[in-house]
Amino acid sequence: MCGIFGYKGMKNSFSVVFNGLKDLEYRGYDSWGIASLIDGEIKVVKKTGKIGEDFDEESVKSSISIGHTRWSTHGIPSDKNAHPHFSCDKKIAVVHNGIIENHDEIRARLKGHKFKSDTDTEVIAHLIEEYMKKYDYKEAVVKALGELEGSFALMILNSEREEIIAVRRGSPLVLGVKKEEFFLASDILALLRHTKEIIFVEDDEMVIFNSGFKMINFVSGEVIDRKPEVMDIDFNESDKGAFSHFMLKEIYEQPKAIEKTISGVNGNGVVFQIPEKVLSRLNRVVIVACGTSWHAGLVGEYWIERFAGIPVEVEYASEFRYRKPIIDENVLLVAISQSGETADTLAAVKEAKDKGAFIFSICNVFGSTLTRVSDLVVYTRAGAEIGVASTKAFTTQLSVLYLLSLFFGEKKKVLTGSEVEKRKEFLKKVPVQIAEILKNEKKVREIAENYYLDKNALYLGRGLNFPIALEGALKLKEVSYIHAEGYPAAEMKHGPIALIDKDMPVVFIAAKDKTYEKVMANIEEVKSRKGKVIALASEGDSIVAGKVDHVLYIPTADHFILPFLTVIPLQLLAYYIADLRGCEIDKPRNLAKSVTVE
Ligand code: M6R
Repeated sequence: MCGIFGYKGMKNSFSVVFNGLKDLEYRGYDSWGIASLIDGEIKVVKKTGKIGEDFDEESVKSSISIGHTRWSTHGIPSDKNAHPHFSCDKKIAVVHNGIIENHDEIRARLKGHKFKSDTDTEVIAHLIEEYMKKYDYKEAVVKALGELEGSFALMILNSEREEIIAVRRGSPLVLGVKKEEFFLASDILALLRHTKEIIFVEDDEMVIFNSGFKMINFVSGEVIDRKPEVMDIDFNESDKGAFSHFMLKEIYEQPKAIEKTISGVNGNGVVFQIPEKVLSRLNRVVIVACGTSWHAGLVGEYWIERFAGIPVEVEYASEFRYRKPIIDENVLLVAISQSGETADTLAAVKEAKDKGAFIFSICNVFGSTLTRVSDLVVYTRAGAEIGVASTKAFTTQLSVLYLLSLFFGEKKKVLTGSEVEKRKEFLKKVPVQIAEILKNEKKVREIAENYYLDKNALYLGRGLNFPIALEGALKLKEVSYIHAEGYPAAEMKHGPIALIDKDMPVVFIAAKDKTYEKVMANIEEVKSRKGKVIALASEGDSIVAGKVDHVLYIPTADHFILPFLTVIPLQLLAYYIADLRGCEIDKPRNLAKSVTVE
Protein backbone atom coordinates (compact mmCIF):
# COMPACT_ATOMS: atom_id res chain seq x y z
CA MET A 1 0.00 0.00 0.00
CA CYS A 2 1.29 3.51 0.69
CA GLY A 3 1.40 6.50 -1.63
CA ILE A 4 4.49 8.17 -3.02
CA PHE A 5 4.87 11.61 -4.55
CA GLY A 6 7.89 13.40 -6.02
CA TYR A 7 8.39 16.86 -7.50
CA LYS A 8 11.10 18.89 -9.16
CA GLY A 9 10.42 22.39 -10.38
CA MET A 10 10.34 26.07 -9.55
CA LYS A 11 7.66 25.83 -6.87
CA ASN A 12 8.44 24.94 -3.27
CA SER A 13 8.78 21.19 -3.73
CA PHE A 14 8.12 20.45 -0.06
CA SER A 15 4.75 22.11 -0.22
CA VAL A 16 3.84 20.45 -3.56
CA VAL A 17 4.76 17.01 -2.19
CA PHE A 18 3.03 17.67 1.13
CA ASN A 19 -0.24 18.42 -0.71
CA GLY A 20 0.34 15.56 -3.15
CA LEU A 21 0.54 13.19 -0.20
CA LYS A 22 -2.78 14.49 1.08
CA ASP A 23 -4.31 13.45 -2.26
CA LEU A 24 -2.76 10.01 -1.80
CA GLU A 25 -3.75 9.58 1.82
CA TYR A 26 -6.44 7.09 0.82
CA ARG A 27 -3.57 4.63 0.23
CA GLY A 28 -2.46 4.75 3.87
CA TYR A 29 -2.38 7.23 6.68
CA ASP A 30 -0.48 5.90 9.66
CA SER A 31 2.60 8.08 9.14
CA TRP A 32 4.23 10.26 6.51
CA GLY A 33 7.55 11.74 5.55
CA ILE A 34 9.27 13.96 3.00
CA ALA A 35 12.93 14.25 1.98
CA SER A 36 14.04 17.50 0.32
CA LEU A 37 17.35 18.39 -1.22
CA ILE A 38 18.67 21.66 0.21
CA ASP A 39 22.22 22.89 -0.56
CA GLY A 40 23.66 19.43 -1.15
CA GLU A 41 22.05 17.90 1.93
CA ILE A 42 18.89 15.88 2.32
CA LYS A 43 16.56 17.33 4.95
CA VAL A 44 13.88 15.05 6.23
CA VAL A 45 10.56 15.48 8.01
CA LYS A 46 8.84 12.32 9.36
CA LYS A 47 5.73 12.14 11.47
CA THR A 48 3.47 9.46 12.91
CA GLY A 49 -0.21 10.05 12.16
CA LYS A 50 -2.08 11.70 9.33
CA ILE A 51 -0.43 14.13 6.98
CA GLY A 52 -0.23 17.68 8.03
CA GLU A 53 -1.54 17.39 11.53
CA ASP A 54 0.23 20.35 13.18
CA PHE A 55 2.69 20.95 10.39
CA ASP A 56 3.45 24.10 8.42
CA GLU A 57 4.07 23.04 4.83
CA GLU A 58 5.98 26.26 4.08
CA SER A 59 8.51 25.69 6.83
CA VAL A 60 10.84 23.83 4.43
CA LYS A 61 11.96 25.37 1.11
CA SER A 62 13.41 23.26 -1.69
CA SER A 63 13.03 22.64 -5.41
CA ILE A 64 13.25 18.86 -5.25
CA SER A 65 11.48 16.51 -2.82
CA ILE A 66 10.13 12.98 -2.51
CA GLY A 67 7.45 11.94 -0.02
CA HIS A 68 5.49 9.01 1.31
CA THR A 69 2.25 8.30 3.14
CA ARG A 70 2.37 4.92 4.87
CA TRP A 71 0.20 1.91 5.54
CA SER A 72 2.42 -0.30 7.65
CA THR A 73 3.48 -3.70 6.46
CA HIS A 74 6.89 -4.18 8.12
CA GLY A 75 7.27 -2.37 11.43
CA ILE A 76 4.72 -0.52 13.54
CA PRO A 77 3.55 2.99 12.60
CA SER A 78 6.20 5.25 14.13
CA ASP A 79 8.53 8.12 13.19
CA LYS A 80 11.39 5.62 12.91
CA ASN A 81 9.52 3.41 10.41
CA ALA A 82 8.04 6.27 8.40
CA HIS A 83 9.65 6.77 4.98
CA PRO A 84 11.98 8.10 3.56
CA HIS A 85 14.69 5.67 4.58
CA PHE A 86 18.38 6.41 4.30
CA SER A 87 21.76 4.89 3.62
CA CYS A 88 24.28 5.00 6.49
CA ASP A 89 25.93 8.13 5.07
CA LYS A 90 22.52 9.84 4.65
CA LYS A 91 23.30 10.51 0.99
CA ILE A 92 20.62 8.21 -0.42
CA ALA A 93 16.95 8.57 0.52
CA VAL A 94 14.26 6.15 -0.65
CA VAL A 95 10.45 6.12 -0.57
CA HIS A 96 8.71 2.89 -1.49
CA ASN A 97 5.28 1.49 -2.23
CA GLY A 98 5.18 -2.31 -2.31
CA ILE A 99 6.94 -5.11 -0.45
CA ILE A 100 10.55 -6.31 -0.72
CA GLU A 101 10.11 -10.00 -0.04
CA ASN A 102 13.81 -10.87 0.35
CA HIS A 103 14.63 -7.97 2.70
CA ASP A 104 15.75 -10.24 5.57
CA GLU A 105 18.25 -11.96 3.32
CA ILE A 106 19.64 -8.66 2.00
CA ARG A 107 19.80 -7.16 5.49
CA ALA A 108 21.76 -10.17 6.77
CA ARG A 109 24.23 -9.83 3.92
CA LEU A 110 24.87 -6.11 4.34
CA LYS A 111 27.38 -6.53 7.15
CA GLY A 112 28.61 -3.28 8.65
CA HIS A 113 25.47 -1.31 7.67
CA LYS A 114 23.52 0.23 10.53
CA PHE A 115 19.77 -0.11 10.09
CA LYS A 116 17.51 2.36 11.83
CA SER A 117 14.05 0.99 11.07
CA ASP A 118 12.15 -2.31 11.03
CA THR A 119 11.03 -1.80 7.44
CA ASP A 120 11.72 -3.87 4.34
CA THR A 121 12.37 -0.62 2.43
CA GLU A 122 15.48 0.47 4.29
CA VAL A 123 17.58 -2.29 2.72
CA ILE A 124 17.22 -0.57 -0.66
CA ALA A 125 19.06 2.58 0.45
CA HIS A 126 21.85 0.50 2.03
CA LEU A 127 22.09 -1.79 -0.98
CA ILE A 128 22.57 1.19 -3.32
CA GLU A 129 25.19 2.59 -0.93
CA GLU A 130 26.98 -0.77 -0.95
CA TYR A 131 27.06 -0.95 -4.74
CA MET A 132 28.25 2.67 -4.94
CA LYS A 133 31.52 1.44 -3.45
CA LYS A 134 32.22 -0.21 -6.84
CA TYR A 135 29.92 1.40 -9.40
CA ASP A 136 28.72 4.84 -10.36
CA TYR A 137 25.37 5.92 -8.92
CA LYS A 138 23.09 4.86 -11.76
CA GLU A 139 24.78 1.49 -12.16
CA ALA A 140 24.59 0.99 -8.40
CA VAL A 141 20.82 1.64 -8.51
CA VAL A 142 20.37 -0.86 -11.35
CA LYS A 143 22.49 -3.46 -9.52
CA ALA A 144 20.45 -2.98 -6.36
CA LEU A 145 17.17 -3.30 -8.28
CA GLY A 146 18.43 -6.55 -9.76
CA GLU A 147 18.48 -8.05 -6.27
CA LEU A 148 15.03 -7.01 -5.14
CA GLU A 149 12.24 -9.58 -5.03
CA GLY A 150 8.63 -8.47 -4.61
CA SER A 151 6.88 -5.37 -5.84
CA PHE A 152 7.95 -1.78 -5.80
CA ALA A 153 7.42 1.73 -6.98
CA LEU A 154 10.42 3.66 -5.69
CA MET A 155 11.75 7.19 -5.73
CA ILE A 156 15.37 7.76 -4.88
CA LEU A 157 17.13 11.00 -3.99
CA ASN A 158 20.91 11.39 -3.97
CA SER A 159 22.28 14.35 -1.98
CA GLU A 160 24.94 14.93 -4.64
CA ARG A 161 22.57 15.18 -7.61
CA GLU A 162 19.72 17.50 -8.46
CA GLU A 163 17.61 14.61 -9.68
CA ILE A 164 15.04 12.00 -8.76
CA ILE A 165 15.25 8.42 -9.97
CA ALA A 166 11.94 6.57 -9.93
CA VAL A 167 11.33 2.93 -10.87
CA ARG A 168 8.40 0.61 -11.05
CA ARG A 169 7.87 -3.13 -10.80
CA GLY A 170 4.40 -4.26 -9.79
CA SER A 171 3.28 -1.10 -7.96
CA PRO A 172 1.78 1.89 -9.76
CA LEU A 173 3.79 4.94 -10.80
CA VAL A 174 2.66 7.82 -12.96
CA LEU A 175 4.63 10.76 -14.30
CA GLY A 176 3.11 14.19 -14.86
CA VAL A 177 4.86 16.79 -17.00
CA LYS A 178 4.41 20.50 -17.29
CA LYS A 179 6.78 23.17 -18.58
CA GLU A 180 9.93 22.83 -16.42
CA GLU A 181 8.07 20.90 -13.75
CA PHE A 182 7.99 17.14 -13.17
CA PHE A 183 5.67 15.25 -10.89
CA LEU A 184 5.63 11.58 -9.94
CA ALA A 185 2.86 9.91 -8.02
CA SER A 186 1.18 6.60 -7.25
CA ASP A 187 -1.90 7.62 -9.23
CA ILE A 188 -3.09 10.17 -11.74
CA LEU A 189 -5.68 11.66 -9.43
CA ALA A 190 -2.88 13.17 -7.35
CA LEU A 191 -1.38 14.71 -10.51
CA LEU A 192 -4.49 16.19 -12.08
CA ARG A 193 -4.49 19.32 -9.95
CA HIS A 194 -1.09 20.11 -11.56
CA THR A 195 -1.18 18.75 -15.10
CA LYS A 196 -3.17 16.66 -17.51
CA GLU A 197 -0.08 15.49 -19.42
CA ILE A 198 0.54 12.04 -18.06
CA ILE A 199 2.92 9.18 -18.78
CA PHE A 200 2.14 5.79 -17.26
CA VAL A 201 5.36 4.13 -16.14
CA GLU A 202 5.34 0.39 -16.86
CA ASP A 203 7.05 -2.49 -15.05
CA ASP A 204 10.86 -2.47 -15.21
CA GLU A 205 10.96 1.13 -16.29
CA MET A 206 13.04 3.87 -14.75
CA VAL A 207 12.41 7.61 -14.95
CA ILE A 208 15.25 10.01 -14.28
CA PHE A 209 14.42 13.63 -13.95
CA ASN A 210 16.92 16.40 -13.58
CA SER A 211 16.87 19.32 -16.04
CA GLY A 212 14.61 17.23 -18.30
CA PHE A 213 13.42 13.67 -18.00
CA LYS A 214 14.55 10.40 -19.50
CA MET A 215 13.02 6.94 -19.39
CA ILE A 216 14.80 3.62 -19.77
CA ASN A 217 14.04 -0.03 -19.21
CA PHE A 218 16.33 -0.81 -16.28
CA VAL A 219 16.58 -4.49 -17.21
CA SER A 220 17.40 -4.19 -20.91
CA GLY A 221 18.88 -0.66 -20.84
CA GLU A 222 16.68 0.29 -23.80
CA VAL A 223 15.73 3.98 -23.99
CA ILE A 224 11.97 4.60 -23.92
CA ASP A 225 10.49 7.40 -25.95
CA ARG A 226 6.94 7.70 -24.69
CA LYS A 227 4.99 10.87 -25.25
CA PRO A 228 2.65 12.15 -22.55
CA GLU A 229 -1.06 11.37 -22.98
CA VAL A 230 -3.43 14.25 -22.35
CA MET A 231 -5.98 12.99 -19.82
CA ASP A 232 -9.36 14.54 -20.30
CA ILE A 233 -10.38 14.27 -16.67
CA ASP A 234 -11.07 17.13 -14.32
CA PHE A 235 -9.57 17.39 -10.92
CA ASN A 236 -12.48 17.51 -8.53
CA GLU A 237 -11.60 18.62 -5.09
CA SER A 238 -13.93 16.58 -2.92
CA ASP A 239 -15.40 18.14 0.12
CA LYS A 240 -17.94 16.87 2.58
CA GLY A 241 -20.37 19.72 1.98
CA ALA A 242 -23.01 19.76 4.70
CA PHE A 243 -22.30 16.17 5.70
CA SER A 244 -20.23 15.32 8.73
CA HIS A 245 -18.41 12.50 6.94
CA PHE A 246 -17.62 11.46 3.38
CA MET A 247 -19.22 8.08 4.08
CA LEU A 248 -22.59 9.69 4.77
CA LYS A 249 -22.26 12.02 1.80
CA GLU A 250 -21.42 9.06 -0.44
CA ILE A 251 -24.38 7.06 0.86
CA TYR A 252 -26.58 9.97 -0.16
CA GLU A 253 -24.91 10.28 -3.56
CA GLN A 254 -26.07 6.80 -4.58
CA PRO A 255 -29.20 7.76 -6.50
CA LYS A 256 -27.21 10.16 -8.72
CA ALA A 257 -24.25 7.80 -9.05
CA ILE A 258 -26.51 4.95 -10.19
CA GLU A 259 -28.29 7.18 -12.70
CA LYS A 260 -24.96 8.30 -14.14
CA THR A 261 -23.67 4.74 -14.31
CA ILE A 262 -26.78 3.47 -16.07
CA SER A 263 -26.70 6.25 -18.61
CA GLY A 264 -22.93 5.79 -19.09
CA VAL A 265 -23.46 2.12 -19.93
CA ASN A 266 -26.55 2.65 -22.07
CA GLY A 267 -25.25 5.88 -23.58
CA ASN A 268 -22.08 4.54 -25.13
CA GLY A 269 -23.02 0.88 -25.24
CA VAL A 270 -19.72 -0.25 -23.75
CA VAL A 271 -21.20 -3.41 -22.31
CA PHE A 272 -22.03 -4.48 -25.83
CA GLN A 273 -18.51 -4.18 -27.15
CA ILE A 274 -17.46 -7.67 -26.10
CA PRO A 275 -16.17 -9.09 -29.40
CA GLU A 276 -18.48 -11.61 -31.12
CA LYS A 277 -15.74 -14.23 -31.20
CA VAL A 278 -15.40 -13.97 -27.40
CA LEU A 279 -19.16 -14.19 -26.94
CA SER A 280 -19.60 -17.13 -29.25
CA ARG A 281 -17.07 -19.34 -27.43
CA LEU A 282 -17.89 -18.12 -23.91
CA ASN A 283 -18.80 -21.02 -21.63
CA ARG A 284 -18.03 -19.62 -18.19
CA VAL A 285 -17.76 -16.32 -16.38
CA VAL A 286 -15.25 -16.00 -13.57
CA ILE A 287 -15.53 -12.95 -11.34
CA VAL A 288 -12.52 -11.82 -9.27
CA ALA A 289 -12.58 -9.05 -6.69
CA CYS A 290 -11.91 -8.25 -3.04
CA GLY A 291 -13.97 -6.95 -0.12
CA THR A 292 -17.08 -5.05 -1.06
CA SER A 293 -16.39 -5.51 -4.77
CA TRP A 294 -16.38 -9.28 -4.15
CA HIS A 295 -19.82 -8.97 -2.56
CA ALA A 296 -21.02 -7.18 -5.70
CA GLY A 297 -19.61 -10.13 -7.67
CA LEU A 298 -21.70 -12.57 -5.61
CA VAL A 299 -24.86 -10.68 -6.52
CA GLY A 300 -23.69 -10.62 -10.15
CA GLU A 301 -23.36 -14.42 -10.03
CA TYR A 302 -27.04 -14.82 -9.19
CA TRP A 303 -28.09 -12.43 -11.93
CA ILE A 304 -25.89 -13.85 -14.70
CA GLU A 305 -26.78 -17.46 -13.95
CA ARG A 306 -30.46 -16.65 -13.68
CA PHE A 307 -30.83 -14.27 -16.62
CA ALA A 308 -28.36 -15.89 -19.00
CA GLY A 309 -27.82 -19.46 -17.84
CA ILE A 310 -24.04 -19.03 -18.00
CA PRO A 311 -22.11 -20.75 -15.18
CA VAL A 312 -20.38 -18.21 -12.97
CA GLU A 313 -17.69 -18.58 -10.33
CA VAL A 314 -16.88 -15.76 -7.94
CA GLU A 315 -13.39 -15.86 -6.54
CA TYR A 316 -11.53 -13.91 -3.92
CA ALA A 317 -8.82 -12.40 -6.10
CA SER A 318 -6.27 -13.13 -3.39
CA GLU A 319 -7.00 -16.88 -3.51
CA PHE A 320 -7.49 -17.21 -7.25
CA ARG A 321 -3.97 -17.60 -8.52
CA TYR A 322 -2.72 -19.77 -5.70
CA ARG A 323 -4.81 -22.76 -6.68
CA LYS A 324 -3.93 -23.09 -10.36
CA PRO A 325 -7.34 -21.98 -11.64
CA ILE A 326 -8.67 -23.69 -14.75
CA ILE A 327 -8.95 -20.82 -17.18
CA ASP A 328 -8.79 -20.73 -20.96
CA GLU A 329 -9.92 -18.52 -23.84
CA ASN A 330 -13.53 -19.63 -23.36
CA VAL A 331 -13.66 -17.80 -20.03
CA LEU A 332 -14.75 -14.20 -19.62
CA LEU A 333 -12.99 -12.87 -16.56
CA VAL A 334 -14.85 -10.04 -14.86
CA ALA A 335 -12.62 -8.04 -12.52
CA ILE A 336 -14.43 -5.65 -10.19
CA SER A 337 -12.56 -2.91 -8.39
CA GLN A 338 -13.43 0.58 -7.24
CA SER A 339 -9.83 1.76 -7.25
CA GLY A 340 -8.42 -0.36 -10.06
CA GLU A 341 -5.24 -0.62 -7.98
CA THR A 342 -5.99 -3.56 -5.67
CA ALA A 343 -2.88 -5.72 -5.92
CA ASP A 344 -4.71 -9.03 -5.41
CA THR A 345 -7.19 -8.23 -8.16
CA LEU A 346 -4.43 -7.14 -10.55
CA ALA A 347 -2.50 -10.35 -9.86
CA ALA A 348 -5.61 -12.45 -10.56
CA VAL A 349 -6.20 -10.57 -13.80
CA LYS A 350 -2.63 -11.18 -14.90
CA GLU A 351 -2.99 -14.90 -14.19
CA ALA A 352 -6.23 -15.13 -16.20
CA LYS A 353 -4.86 -13.02 -19.04
CA ASP A 354 -1.78 -15.21 -19.34
CA LYS A 355 -4.14 -18.17 -19.69
CA GLY A 356 -6.07 -16.54 -22.52
CA ALA A 357 -9.22 -15.22 -20.82
CA PHE A 358 -10.86 -12.03 -22.08
CA ILE A 359 -10.61 -9.43 -19.30
CA PHE A 360 -13.71 -7.34 -18.71
CA SER A 361 -13.30 -4.92 -15.85
CA ILE A 362 -15.73 -2.84 -13.85
CA CYS A 363 -13.86 0.06 -12.33
CA ASN A 364 -14.44 3.51 -10.88
CA VAL A 365 -11.05 5.15 -11.42
CA PHE A 366 -10.17 6.34 -14.87
CA GLY A 367 -6.63 5.47 -15.96
CA SER A 368 -6.01 3.10 -13.03
CA THR A 369 -3.80 0.05 -13.55
CA LEU A 370 -6.75 -2.34 -13.92
CA THR A 371 -8.25 -0.27 -16.72
CA ARG A 372 -4.98 -0.39 -18.62
CA VAL A 373 -4.52 -4.15 -18.43
CA SER A 374 -8.11 -5.04 -19.36
CA ASP A 375 -9.50 -5.89 -22.78
CA LEU A 376 -12.67 -3.94 -22.05
CA VAL A 377 -13.55 -1.55 -19.24
CA VAL A 378 -16.93 -0.39 -18.07
CA TYR A 379 -16.68 2.53 -15.73
CA THR A 380 -18.91 2.99 -12.75
CA ARG A 381 -19.70 6.68 -12.58
CA ALA A 382 -19.74 6.99 -8.82
CA GLY A 383 -17.31 9.92 -8.75
CA ALA A 384 -14.43 9.95 -6.28
CA GLU A 385 -15.16 7.69 -3.32
CA ILE A 386 -13.19 9.08 -0.39
CA GLY A 387 -14.64 7.20 2.60
CA VAL A 388 -12.64 4.04 3.14
CA ALA A 389 -15.88 2.09 3.55
CA SER A 390 -17.19 1.54 0.06
CA THR A 391 -20.85 2.51 -0.49
CA LYS A 392 -21.65 4.19 -3.80
CA ALA A 393 -19.00 2.13 -5.57
CA PHE A 394 -20.92 -1.00 -4.53
CA THR A 395 -24.33 0.03 -5.85
CA THR A 396 -22.83 1.34 -9.10
CA GLN A 397 -20.96 -1.95 -9.54
CA LEU A 398 -24.30 -3.71 -9.05
CA SER A 399 -25.79 -1.49 -11.76
CA VAL A 400 -23.18 -2.57 -14.31
CA LEU A 401 -23.46 -6.24 -13.32
CA TYR A 402 -27.24 -6.12 -13.64
CA LEU A 403 -27.03 -4.62 -17.14
CA LEU A 404 -24.30 -7.07 -18.10
CA SER A 405 -26.46 -10.01 -17.01
CA LEU A 406 -29.40 -8.69 -19.08
CA PHE A 407 -27.09 -8.29 -22.05
CA PHE A 408 -25.93 -11.90 -21.71
CA GLY A 409 -29.53 -12.99 -21.15
CA GLU A 410 -30.58 -11.53 -24.49
CA LYS A 411 -27.49 -12.80 -26.31
CA LYS A 412 -28.04 -16.31 -25.01
CA LYS A 413 -31.75 -16.05 -25.85
CA VAL A 414 -32.76 -16.81 -22.27
CA LEU A 415 -34.53 -13.44 -22.08
CA THR A 416 -36.61 -11.87 -24.83
CA GLY A 417 -36.03 -8.26 -25.86
CA SER A 418 -39.18 -7.18 -24.06
CA GLU A 419 -38.17 -8.97 -20.84
CA VAL A 420 -34.84 -7.16 -20.98
CA GLU A 421 -36.62 -3.83 -21.44
CA LYS A 422 -38.96 -4.58 -18.53
CA ARG A 423 -36.01 -5.40 -16.27
CA LYS A 424 -34.15 -2.27 -17.34
CA GLU A 425 -37.21 -0.26 -16.31
CA PHE A 426 -37.00 -1.85 -12.84
CA LEU A 427 -33.41 -0.65 -12.60
CA LYS A 428 -34.33 2.88 -13.67
CA LYS A 429 -36.64 3.13 -10.65
CA VAL A 430 -33.86 2.26 -8.22
CA PRO A 431 -32.52 5.83 -7.69
CA VAL A 432 -35.98 7.03 -6.62
CA GLN A 433 -36.46 4.01 -4.38
CA ILE A 434 -33.09 4.60 -2.70
CA ALA A 435 -34.02 8.26 -2.15
CA GLU A 436 -37.19 7.01 -0.41
CA ILE A 437 -35.16 4.73 1.88
CA LEU A 438 -32.80 7.56 2.76
CA LYS A 439 -35.78 9.51 4.12
CA ASN A 440 -35.90 6.93 6.93
CA GLU A 441 -32.49 7.96 8.15
CA LYS A 442 -33.91 9.10 11.52
CA LYS A 443 -35.36 5.68 12.21
CA VAL A 444 -32.02 4.02 11.45
CA ARG A 445 -30.31 6.41 13.87
CA GLU A 446 -32.80 5.49 16.60
CA ILE A 447 -32.07 1.81 16.08
CA ALA A 448 -28.33 2.51 16.20
CA GLU A 449 -28.82 4.11 19.61
CA ASN A 450 -30.03 0.75 20.94
CA TYR A 451 -27.07 -1.25 19.67
CA TYR A 452 -23.97 0.91 19.50
CA LEU A 453 -22.52 -0.50 22.72
CA ASP A 454 -22.83 -4.13 21.65
CA LYS A 455 -19.79 -6.24 20.90
CA ASN A 456 -21.15 -8.56 18.22
CA ALA A 457 -23.78 -8.74 15.50
CA LEU A 458 -25.07 -11.31 13.03
CA TYR A 459 -26.41 -10.44 9.58
CA LEU A 460 -28.59 -13.02 7.87
CA GLY A 461 -30.09 -13.11 4.40
CA ARG A 462 -30.88 -15.65 1.69
CA GLY A 463 -30.42 -15.85 -2.04
CA LEU A 464 -29.61 -12.46 -3.54
CA ASN A 465 -29.63 -10.98 -0.07
CA PHE A 466 -26.96 -13.27 1.34
CA PRO A 467 -24.18 -11.12 -0.21
CA ILE A 468 -25.97 -8.10 1.25
CA ALA A 469 -25.78 -9.71 4.70
CA LEU A 470 -22.03 -10.09 4.14
CA GLU A 471 -21.77 -6.49 3.01
CA GLY A 472 -23.78 -5.18 5.98
CA ALA A 473 -21.49 -7.06 8.37
CA LEU A 474 -18.36 -5.81 6.61
CA LYS A 475 -19.57 -2.21 6.80
CA LEU A 476 -20.22 -2.51 10.53
CA LYS A 477 -16.82 -4.13 11.23
CA GLU A 478 -14.89 -1.58 9.22
CA VAL A 479 -16.29 1.61 10.62
CA SER A 480 -17.40 0.69 14.15
CA TYR A 481 -14.92 -2.10 15.05
CA ILE A 482 -17.85 -4.23 16.28
CA HIS A 483 -17.39 -7.88 15.44
CA ALA A 484 -20.02 -8.85 12.86
CA GLU A 485 -20.62 -11.89 10.68
CA GLY A 486 -22.80 -12.38 7.64
CA TYR A 487 -24.38 -15.79 6.97
CA PRO A 488 -26.96 -17.33 4.70
CA ALA A 489 -30.01 -17.28 6.99
CA ALA A 490 -30.55 -21.03 6.66
CA GLU A 491 -26.98 -21.75 7.72
CA MET A 492 -27.65 -20.27 11.15
CA LYS A 493 -28.97 -23.56 12.48
CA HIS A 494 -25.74 -25.29 11.45
CA GLY A 495 -23.62 -23.45 14.00
CA PRO A 496 -24.06 -19.71 14.53
CA ILE A 497 -27.32 -20.32 16.40
CA ALA A 498 -25.13 -21.27 19.38
CA LEU A 499 -24.21 -17.58 19.64
CA ILE A 500 -27.77 -16.37 20.07
CA ASP A 501 -28.73 -14.93 23.45
CA LYS A 502 -30.18 -11.67 24.72
CA ASP A 503 -26.96 -9.82 23.90
CA MET A 504 -26.77 -10.84 20.26
CA PRO A 505 -28.40 -8.46 17.79
CA VAL A 506 -29.36 -10.21 14.56
CA VAL A 507 -30.10 -8.25 11.41
CA PHE A 508 -32.43 -10.17 9.11
CA ILE A 509 -33.02 -9.25 5.51
CA ALA A 510 -36.63 -10.35 5.31
CA ALA A 511 -37.92 -8.57 2.21
CA LYS A 512 -40.75 -10.27 0.29
CA ASP A 513 -39.23 -12.78 -2.07
CA LYS A 514 -39.30 -16.53 -2.56
CA THR A 515 -37.36 -17.17 0.61
CA TYR A 516 -39.58 -14.95 2.79
CA GLU A 517 -41.44 -17.74 4.64
CA LYS A 518 -38.19 -19.55 5.43
CA VAL A 519 -36.54 -16.37 6.68
CA MET A 520 -39.58 -15.73 8.90
CA ALA A 521 -39.04 -19.17 10.43
CA ASN A 522 -35.39 -18.26 11.10
CA ILE A 523 -36.57 -15.08 12.84
CA GLU A 524 -38.77 -17.19 15.13
CA GLU A 525 -35.78 -19.38 15.92
CA VAL A 526 -33.75 -16.37 17.01
CA LYS A 527 -36.59 -14.81 18.99
CA SER A 528 -37.28 -18.03 20.86
CA ARG A 529 -33.65 -17.91 22.04
CA LYS A 530 -34.06 -14.31 23.23
CA GLY A 531 -31.98 -12.77 20.43
CA LYS A 532 -32.67 -9.16 19.44
CA VAL A 533 -33.91 -8.85 15.86
CA ILE A 534 -33.73 -5.93 13.46
CA ALA A 535 -35.55 -6.79 10.24
CA LEU A 536 -35.45 -5.20 6.83
CA ALA A 537 -38.92 -5.79 5.44
CA SER A 538 -40.99 -4.85 2.42
CA GLU A 539 -43.22 -1.84 2.84
CA GLY A 540 -46.63 -2.85 4.16
CA ASP A 541 -45.44 -6.07 5.81
CA SER A 542 -47.12 -5.78 9.19
CA ILE A 543 -46.58 -9.43 10.13
CA VAL A 544 -42.85 -9.05 10.50
CA ALA A 545 -43.32 -5.96 12.69
CA GLY A 546 -45.18 -8.08 15.25
CA LYS A 547 -42.33 -10.54 15.55
CA VAL A 548 -39.16 -8.46 15.80
CA ASP A 549 -37.66 -5.68 17.90
CA HIS A 550 -37.20 -3.15 15.09
CA VAL A 551 -38.25 -2.96 11.47
CA LEU A 552 -36.85 -0.90 8.64
CA TYR A 553 -39.02 -0.84 5.57
CA ILE A 554 -37.87 -0.77 1.98
CA PRO A 555 -40.11 -0.10 -1.04
CA THR A 556 -41.64 -3.15 -2.70
CA ALA A 557 -39.63 -4.05 -5.77
CA ASP A 558 -38.95 -6.87 -8.16
CA HIS A 559 -37.08 -9.65 -6.34
CA PHE A 560 -33.94 -9.21 -8.50
CA ILE A 561 -33.71 -5.51 -7.65
CA LEU A 562 -33.75 -6.01 -3.88
CA PRO A 563 -29.95 -5.95 -3.27
CA PHE A 564 -29.81 -2.32 -4.44
CA LEU A 565 -32.35 -1.42 -1.77
CA THR A 566 -31.59 -3.70 1.16
CA VAL A 567 -27.97 -2.58 1.33
CA ILE A 568 -28.88 1.08 1.96
CA PRO A 569 -30.27 0.78 5.53
CA LEU A 570 -27.30 -1.44 6.40
CA GLN A 571 -24.84 1.22 5.23
CA LEU A 572 -26.69 3.80 7.32
CA LEU A 573 -26.84 1.51 10.34
CA ALA A 574 -23.07 0.93 10.26
CA TYR A 575 -22.51 4.66 9.84
CA TYR A 576 -24.68 5.72 12.79
CA ILE A 577 -23.37 3.01 15.10
CA ALA A 578 -19.79 4.10 14.32
CA ASP A 579 -20.72 7.75 14.79
CA LEU A 580 -22.24 7.05 18.22
CA ARG A 581 -19.09 5.17 19.19
CA GLY A 582 -16.98 8.17 18.17
CA CYS A 583 -15.04 6.22 15.54
CA GLU A 584 -12.98 7.81 12.83
CA ILE A 585 -15.45 6.85 10.12
CA ASP A 586 -13.77 8.01 6.93
CA LYS A 587 -10.36 6.66 7.88
CA PRO A 588 -10.89 3.65 10.14
CA ARG A 589 -7.87 2.32 11.99
CA ASN A 590 -5.57 -0.13 10.18
CA LEU A 591 -7.32 0.31 6.82
CA ALA A 592 -6.53 2.08 3.58
CA LYS A 593 -8.83 2.89 0.71
CA SER A 594 -6.74 1.05 -1.79
CA VAL A 595 -4.89 -2.14 -0.91
CA THR A 596 -1.88 -2.17 -3.19
CA VAL A 597 0.06 -5.01 -1.58
CA GLU A 598 -0.73 -8.71 -1.89
O1 M6R B 1 -10.73 -0.80 -4.86
P1 M6R B 1 -11.32 -2.19 -4.73
O2 M6R B 1 -12.76 -2.23 -5.04
O3 M6R B 1 -10.54 -3.21 -5.50
O4 M6R B 1 -11.14 -2.54 -3.19
C1 M6R B 1 -11.49 -3.80 -2.70
C2 M6R B 1 -11.57 -3.80 -1.20
O5 M6R B 1 -10.33 -3.48 -0.65
C3 M6R B 1 -12.63 -2.82 -0.69
O6 M6R B 1 -13.88 -3.09 -1.22
C4 M6R B 1 -12.69 -2.85 0.84
O7 M6R B 1 -13.17 -4.08 1.27
C5 M6R B 1 -13.56 -1.70 1.33
N1 M6R B 1 -12.90 -1.01 2.39
C6 M6R B 1 -14.90 -2.13 1.79
O8 M6R B 1 -15.67 -1.10 2.31
